[in-house]
Amino acid sequence: MYLDKFKLTGRVAVITGAAQGIGLATAEALAEAGATVVLTDMNLEPLKRATEGLCGKGYNVDHEQLDVTSSAGVQAAHDAIVKRHGSVDILVNNAGIAISNHPAETMTDEIWIKVVDVNLNGVFWCCRSFGTAMLERGSGTIVNVGSMSGFIVNRPQEQANYNASKAAVHHLTRSLAAEWGARGVRVNSVAPTYIETEMTKYVYDDPEMYRHWAGGTPMNRLGRTDEIASVILFLASDASSLMTGSIVLADGGYVCW
Ligand code: NAI
Repeated sequence: MYLDKFKLTGRVAVITGAAQGIGLATAEALAEAGATVVLTDMNLEPLKRATEGLCGKGYNVDHEQLDVTSSAGVQAAHDAIVKRHGSVDILVNNAGIAISNHPAETMTDEIWIKVVDVNLNGVFWCCRSFGTAMLERGSGTIVNVGSMSGFIVNRPQEQANYNASKAAVHHLTRSLAAEWGARGVRVNSVAPTYIETEMTKYVYDDPEMYRHWAGGTPMNRLGRTDEIASVILFLASDASSLMTGSIVLADGGYVCW
């Protein structure tokens, strides 16, 4: 009975920013649980390769190119996916960028807006388009990828744009959960620590940064993408049926210190 709650057989899941990193690992996790997974990303060639890779493992996957910063593009992608798959049960808002090492006093308008546009506006456009259809059907689950950066201020890198965008994602999650909770749509967030992906690989060439990152973590290491994908699987599945508006830290204990 309990393990069955993690099964996603017959469900359709859409993941943004799924060509690599946490999004790609999440695609595999949800597909392994039985979902039909539509991978989306702004970069078409890596997206196609990621989809082919999962297809080669025997999973039921599809892809749709999507830049989450275009609200019209999000609605068009939603409509195209619904046309092919009938409806969407699970949405994972994973697409995100970081432009770090910019002290606030010298951060340009462009760098501020670019990060907020992907990390916050993009999440809202997707929640609105996919969430509206979920509300009409009276069921659906949304998982937003936030960050421990929404709880703490990272160091030593200055990234007020990223930190503020992720805190906003957490509160957007709670706001939508409150609005939609009685109408069958659950909205939760996962808040990861530093995870080994393209986004963070520059730290391997910077022992000082690595010392701050791993050393600031009680578990004394960075996380892996599968360790976030399994939390997202939990939040996307019936195993978390009583949870909405939760921000689940998966941070190796980082915020304890
Ligand atoms: P990544 O850089 O490896 O992958 C991000 C993916 O998002 C890429 O495939 C990229 O093409 C896509 N993307 C970027 N802008 C997009 C847009 N406008 N529209 C659609 N797709 C777009 O990043 P990673 O590390 O896998 O991060 C995934 C999520 O996890 C992000 O929201 C990130 O902020 C969050 N996160 C990552 C952490 C880390 O240490 N790697 C820690 C905490 C949160």
